[in-house]
Amino acid sequence: MEIKNICCIGAGYVGGPTMAVIAQKCPHINVTVVDINEARIQAWNNDDLSKLPVYEPGLDHVVKEARNRNLFFSTKVDQAIDKADMIFISVNTPTKTYGKGKGMAADLKYIELCARQIARVSKSDKIVVEKSTLPVRTASAIKSILDNTGNGTDVKFQILSNPEFLAEGTAIEDLLHPDRVLIGGDISTAEGKEAIDALVNIYATWVPEKQILTTNVWSSELSKLTANAFLAQRVSSINSLSELCEKTEADINEVAKAIGMDSRIGSKFLKASVGFGGSCFQKDILNLVYIAKTYGLNEVADYWEQVLLMNNHQKRRFAHNIISTLFNTVSGKKIAFLGWAFKKDTNDTRESAAIYVADELLNEQSKVSVFDPKVQKEQMYTDLDYLNTRSSEENRAGLSVFKDPYEACKDAHAIAILTEWDEFKTYDWQKIYDTMQKPAFLFDGRGILNIPELEKIGFVCYKIGSSKHNY
Ligand code: NAD
Ligand code: UGA
Repeated sequence: MEIKNICCIGAGYVGGPTMAVIAQKCPHINVTVVDINEARIQAWNNDDLSKLPVYEPGLDHVVKEARNRNLFFSTKVDQAIDKADMIFISVNTPTKTYGKGKGMAADLKYIELCARQIARVSKSDKIVVEKSTLPVRTASAIKSILDNTGNGTDVKFQILSNPEFLAEGTAIEDLLHPDRVLIGGDISTAEGKEAIDALVNIYATWVPEKQILTTNVWSSELSKLTANAFLAQRVSSINSLSELCEKTEADINEVAKAIGMDSRIGSKFLKASVGFGGSCFQKDILNLVYIAKTYGLNEVADYWEQVLLMNNHQKRRFAHNIISTLFNTVSGKKIAFLGWAFKKDTNDTRESAAIYVADELLNEQSKVSVFDPKVQKEQMYTDLDYLNTRSSEENRAGLSVFKDPYEACKDAHAIAILTEWDEFKTYDWQKIYDTMQKPAFLFDGRGILNIPELEKIGFVCYKIGSSKHNY
């Protein structure tokens, strides 16, 4: 089966970059990315490539090459569905904020709306691809909607699961050189196999075939949640030991290096931090925990929930350490944050540790000043307001945002590194020190700065997972 037209519903962090790369690599396929969010689509169509709605290194280059050649961004959802042979669903699947499963289960309302819309509009056979991260067995719900709510025409649907493993900040690199591509489908029927092959052929344009895995649809769905749970578990594991290091004069970087050289353990994802953030780790583990509970697997649920409890502890611990170090009061004191994004090289702030650390400090009436190279001021206020801890006015009075890092740090009692942006390492730290209140405290929540150098200047430093601080 030859795919000529692809539609992707959802022009977000996944839909945009993923489709841009497919379009770049497959000039013979027309790819239309649709979204109900008009502002987002307008931004994708912006002539000024620095204003794309998603910041990812290399994305502008890919979009420039493919846009208006065979890559299109549009709000005409019905039209794109109608024309497509293959439809990717790449909409958001946030944690439910209401009803049964509130705070844990994935909210599948956007997925269901897509399925109903596809069923209503389609007049020809379609391959529907789950790109969003979904609870295991969602494909059966999608299939039931597609098969039972059609428009009367005899349309056949094949459902594939093709979870996305890209990480933000390295999305383009991850898409161009994925460790693997996973495609789940109905391997028991000829039509199912044909649909799987159609998607394999697209990826095979640039991904070596041995790295394209095909499985049954349930394994594929569950593998995505499992991969994120394992990655997050490693971060929580190393973070849990960072606290023990601080008590015992062991150094977490040395421990991580020592264990990471064991090829069975591996060296990646062992960087101790102020806590993991991002739109997915927490959401996907909550989802996994919820699924386990619905099957009565309470021990399984408890096991994975601990990864989240440890992460929350790490964020709180970092904030409380600042408070206790600053003589148990931060009231009225300026604390400068370098970084607000949940990791470097992205403008995404979802679930960023910075939000929670700021919230704790604002509770103690601190004046938080923030500099982040990519995050907009309004986004920071939106993030804080979302927590509902205090009024929007109070958040604006307590937190100020600076365009210049030196201004953000001027007169501060302490600086906290919340994101590992490379540029922080290149600052004139003597200049920063000279403008600060003394003692000038520095809390490196990412372990990126040269602490001995900073201590020579006069900073009083704390580094996650190290007891070598001089206060
Ligand atoms: P996002 O919020 O950035 O984008 C989702 C988009 O879908 C939004 O622009 C929204 O307006 C649109 N949308 C929702 N309902 C729609 C509808 N009915 N019709 C048209 N458009 C609709 O989300 P994201 O970060 O791209 O994540 C999408 C999915 O991919 C999630 O399931 C997520 O778990 C998964 N995922 C995300 C990442 C990541 O790095 N962000 C990585 C891998 C997987
Ligand atoms: C993660 C996964 O890495 C992707 O494979 C997956 O596709 C994606 O989630 C998703 O499903 O959304 P992402 O959240 O973009 O990607 O970024 P990561 O690099 O995984 O970082 C997540 C968080 O963990 C960040 O806050 C990061 O700073 C933190 N982290 C990561 C650490 O604190 N230490 C580490 O060693 C690694």
